[in-house]
Amino acid sequence: MSESILAITGPTAGIGYGAVKVLAQSFDRILLLNRNMEKGEKLKEELLEAKAEVTVDLIKCDLSDLASVRFAAEMIKNRYTHIDCLINNAGMFTNAKKESPDGYELMMATNYLGHFLLTHELVPLVLNSERKQVIVVTSNAYKAAPMAEPFFKPKRFSMVKGYGRSKLGTLYLAQELHEQYSGQGLNVTAVHPGLVATDIGKNNVDPRIETLVFKLLKPFSATLEEGAQTIVSAVEEPDKYRGVFSDKGIVKPVEMHGSDFAMRRSFIDATLEELDLSAL
Ligand SMILES: NC(=O)c1ccc[n+]([C@@H]2O[C@H](COP(=O)([O-])OP(=O)(O)OC[C@H]3O[C@@H](n4cnc5c(N)ncnc54)[C@H](OP(=O)(O)O)[C@@H]3O)[C@@H](O)[C@H]2O)c1
Repeated sequence: MSESILAITGPTAGIGYGAVKVLAQSFDRILLLNRNMEKGEKLKEELLEAKAEVTVDLIKCDLSDLASVRFAAEMIKNRYTHIDCLINNAGMFTNAKKESPDGYELMMATNYLGHFLLTHELVPLVLNSERKQVIVVTSNAYKAAPMAEPFFKPKRFSMVKGYGRSKLGTLYLAQELHEQYSGQGLNVTAVHPGLVATDIGKNNVDPRIETLVFKLLKPFSATLEEGAQTIVSAVEEPDKYRGVFSDKGIVKPVEMHGSDFAMRRSFIDATLEELDLSAL
């Protein structure tokens, strides 16, 4: 049996942090794809303290920056022959219009475009593994608004629609991966972890809005462990979660814009063109 390898984006905080701490117990090697190497080093120490036999490799990857994603993917392809499980978890939220280094709306760039490119580059390695798993962390916010053109550089900024569209994009990515690669044995799951009180948006949202929203939502929020468990379950139970949308662990049909096939087609085609790729 070959070494089992887990790769995860956004492991340094929130739901990804909760998930990787649990999942490190059942993989031989963990690839931490993080933008902040100091936080990555700290997490590496923590994981090694909990399980001395695990190997932890740090890969610098800023999902908002396509050059950084390309560089990380190249490094991974040069170093490893397979990845058993890729978890696309990193995400951000902002209440002000911001642009990525490539000029895209920042939530769309980070939550969707960076992950699309990373997944495109790493799918061959995942298909070359025993588990062949991709977990895409999306959100029920995918229902917030239908996708609208221009997809990546919207003329008017809306924090709710912008975040929702970036998460609708990740849902489309999961659906597309399932359609194109399940025949080759790929196990894809789209996960909504539930409402979890994490640091999401902490540095990007007006503190007054954040405090108000946090207070209003706190009674309805799940714990970090509960949120992380939705990812852990998807990884550990591929038969149950293969090719489905897991809403806090419950398999649910996708609704509204999530099942707009024609829009998905245009959006994925536009992504391929934007990233100069011929296929996912
Ligand atoms: N929290 C919720 O209620 C909720 C609900 C539904 C879906 N989600 C989804 O769950 C996922 C995790 O969110 P969370 O709530 O755990 O957020 P979080 O606590 O803010 O953690 C986000 C993680 O993503 C990383 N990240 C952010 N921007 C990045 C970038 N440009 N490049 C690389 N990594 C980046 C962060 O790195 P740093 O440590 O360097 O900041 C951190 O590790 C996201 O996809 C989010 O959309 C969350």
